[in-house]
Amino acid sequence: MKKVSIKFANSTTDLYLAYGISHLKEITEQASTVLITDENVFNAHSKRFKGWNTIILKSGEEFKVQATVDALIEKLIEMEADRKTILVGVGGGVITDITGYVASVYMRGIRFGFIPTSVLALVDASIGGKNGIDVGIYKNMVGTIHQPAFILHDMVFLNSLPQAEWENGFAEIIKHACIRDAAMFAELESKSLKHYQSRQKSICELVQRNALIKIKVVQKDEFEKGERRLLNFGHTLGHALENQYELSHGQAISIGMTYACHISEQLTGFRQTERVVNLLQKYNLPAYAAFNKQKVFDVLKMDKKREKKEMNYVLLEKIGKGVMKSISLKQLEKILQYL
Ligand code: GLY
Repeated sequence: MKKVSIKFANSTTDLYLAYGISHLKEITEQASTVLITDENVFNAHSKRFKGWNTIILKSGEEFKVQATVDALIEKLIEMEADRKTILVGVGGGVITDITGYVASVYMRGIRFGFIPTSVLALVDASIGGKNGIDVGIYKNMVGTIHQPAFILHDMVFLNSLPQAEWENGFAEIIKHACIRDAAMFAELESKSLKHYQSRQKSICELVQRNALIKIKVVQKDEFEKGERRLLNFGHTLGHALENQYELSHGQAISIGMTYACHISEQLTGFRQTERVVNLLQKYNLPAYAAFNKQKVFDVLKMDKKREKKEMNYVLLEKIGKGVMKSISLKQLEKILQYL
């Protein structure tokens, strides 16, 4: 058990590592706390919610929309939640996003915390303060940047995590290693998903180290003016693919990372695409896919990283060193057509 305080521009997030949800009572007063979770997490861990005010949402990315936000806000009004209320999202990325977003706007902002229950939420979604919802096919189109008051890690939730969700989370783990940590990339090459799934100590350590990569990047650039954009490695094409095709987030960004490696070959002289592709495939992630390039480009153009006719694209110089490059939409369209 370890507590680390992470300083951001206007706030501090307390990170409780290897803590256990049973310690939540020491962090937040039960009477003024509302836990927000989804059906899957609640059904698998109902006894852990005993004694807590809990709102249970439907599970799935399709519910990360304004209608869910409206319903949740109505429920909070019904429960007479006020400015002293603290919302705690117990779940994967959809739950952390919705909880953070609702808490940021309810009564113009109340406190919130997260207990991430998936690998993806542990290393990515719970960190960084960006919380939002999807609008049609556009991912995270509406949202806020507000840091949670705390994040509590309890690995027990991984016991009920479906295989596909492990793979989903490892896509983000590999992404962090690609942009910042060559040694972690090599460790992932030497191990396997099975290794991490069967050794609590290994997954716990990997999750903590990987989460710290993201925390450090966000601390340096909370409002995404520069370095934080590196975290979008694989996401520009990935997001464009994700909602048009039946792909999980991990699968979509995995394909996005492969294409970003190929674009890097042309623009930064990157020479390690094969290692990245092999690692993705080792963790059951797809590297390539047939897709309608024009259709995907038309969605990609709307990406939040576009600035007029230029797209800020994250590329690799080498494994462990991500870089930002501005590519004109014209050039990007051309490169994509020929990949
Ligand atoms: N909540 C995810 C992020 O801020 O990147």
